[in-house]
Amino acid sequence: MPFKNGDLKKGAGLFKTRCAQCHTLEEGGGNKIGPALHGLFGRKTGSVAGYAYTDANKQKGIEWNEDTLFDYLENPKKFIPGTKMAFGGLKKDKDRNDLISFLKDATK
Ligand code: HEC
Repeated sequence: MPFKNGDLKKGAGLFKTRCAQCHTLEEGGGNKIGPALHGLFGRKTGSVAGYAYTDANKQKGIEWNEDTLFDYLENPKKFIPGTKMAFGGLKKDKDRNDLISFLKDATK
């Protein structure tokens, strides 16, 4: 199932309730429990300077984009076995489409 453009407002709400306790989006936002997500699209897994990733996350070796995020966020522990990201996943395709559409904009 490929990514499809979704609802930015719904995506913003999902970020706030499901991701914001561990991640920042804005430039200079910095790392929290998880790495800063500013500039996420087009960068390699595990490449935020100064963040202590697991080897599993660092060595995944793919680029983050709509399609890789769509697979990852459904079940992070399946996509990156050994990750320390404590998040069960967003099982609904629509939720992931909404969230990723929001992230594309908000991480620029
Ligand atoms: C409880 C804290 C927590 C929550 C909630 C959480 N994350 Fe994470 N996230 C992490 C941690 C910790 C890592 C680093 C994982 C590692 O090194 O194994 C991570 C890694 C990531 C990465 C990989 C970044 C990179 O540079 O390779 C992405 C993308 C990501 N998270 C997105 C999200 C999104 C989107 C949400 C909301 C749906 C979310 N996370 C929810 C803690 C969290």
